[in-house]
Amino acid sequence: MADAMIRLEAVTKRFPGAAEPAVDHLSLEVPEGELAVLVGPSGCGKTTTLKMINRIVEPTEGHIMVGGRDVMDTEAHVLRRDIGYVIQQIGLFPHKTVGANIATVPRLLGWDKDRIRQRTDELIELMSLDANMLSRYPSELSGGQRQRVGVARALAADPPVLLMDEPYGAVDPLVRGRLQEQLLALQADLHKTIVFVTHDIDEAIKLGDRIAILNVGGVLEQYDTPEAILREPANDFVASFLGDERGLKRLSLIPVTQVALERGPMVSADATGDEAKRVAQDTGDDWVGILDGERLRGWLWVADLDPAKSVGEHDTHDFRIWIENSASLRTALDAIVNTRGRVAVVYDDAVYRGLLRIDQVAAELFT
Ligand SMILES: Nc1ncnc2c1ncn2[C@@H]1O[C@H](COP(=O)(O)OP(=O)(O)O)[C@@H](O)[C@H]1O
Ligand SMILES: [Mg+2]
Repeated sequence: MADAMIRLEAVTKRFPGAAEPAVDHLSLEVPEGELAVLVGPSGCGKTTTLKMINRIVEPTEGHIMVGGRDVMDTEAHVLRRDIGYVIQQIGLFPHKTVGANIATVPRLLGWDKDRIRQRTDELIELMSLDANMLSRYPSELSGGQRQRVGVARALAADPPVLLMDEPYGAVDPLVRGRLQEQLLALQADLHKTIVFVTHDIDEAIKLGDRIAILNVGGVLEQYDTPEAILREPANDFVASFLGDERGLKRLSLIPVTQVALERGPMVSADATGDEAKRVAQDTGDDWVGILDGERLRGWLWVADLDPAKSVGEHDTHDFRIWIENSASLRTALDAIVNTRGRVAVVYDDAVYRGLLRIDQVAAELFT
């Protein structure tokens, strides 16, 4: 990868007196603008790896390049400016206001007051927090709000690189889900190069462009896209770490739009009963769907078609299985299963896009 923003070259860390290395010959590249997740059991060296990237911990062997420079040859103020860090347990300064917390790095870098003020205002808005929060103290905030302040602080000097160490470990599952969504939305705008640490494989699958699965002793077992890892785990450790429902987890990563949707047995409301029958014969179905322009009005059994009427003059059944264009195959499968159906209708802004049949979902699993 020529344009890797972060490159670890055979990095090893041995802590004095430890029998085993915390990180063992770890080589890894994170391309610019991607979010890589380090995931693995407790003690496998995730935090140590992050801390070596911003030089809080120094490697025993190997090299770490950030933006083409060896971090060991980079001055502290440059590392602070270029690498934002969200630490485990958030780590806000309790005796400082939210505003002062966010301004930590800009102050260290010697920005003037106006520029700091402008930046903290921007960040509060970016994180969807209320401006009056700037003068409050961390203890007055909820866990989710504190977490957002932690990210705002890390983003203060607009660093190209962001390191996040189990940032959502302390918040409840609902808030956690929202924070994950917010991070994905933020990343779609900001395109930072992010290394995100978690021990939660589902969080890794949801967030990561790539996932590095680490084992105890700081050994890298697999580094690839979530889809590729779920499709083909490198070994038993990875397979067991991925847990149950591997196939379903993989479906959750595949958008319905990746499958070629069928038009299905669709006829316009002014078609005749005979025309409708022919359409259903062609697609091999015993029902037809009725379209009003781009909208689906409903469906009919072929057996109920009256040749003397236009299709639109019949009483129709409603479609109960429909999903948005942005849904995953897992959502589609769930919709099909829950409505005892075989097909899901795909909409985009209420406009009919096509049909997804249960066989297509199954076929996608075996490609
Ligand atoms: N400062 C330190 N001194 C000695 N051992 C350490 C130090 N920091 C971490 N370790 C050890 O290194 C290993 C990896 O720790 P860590 O990187 O914190 O794991 P993780 O974040 O994956 O849970 C553990 O065995 C831990 O006890
Ligand atoms: Mg850790």
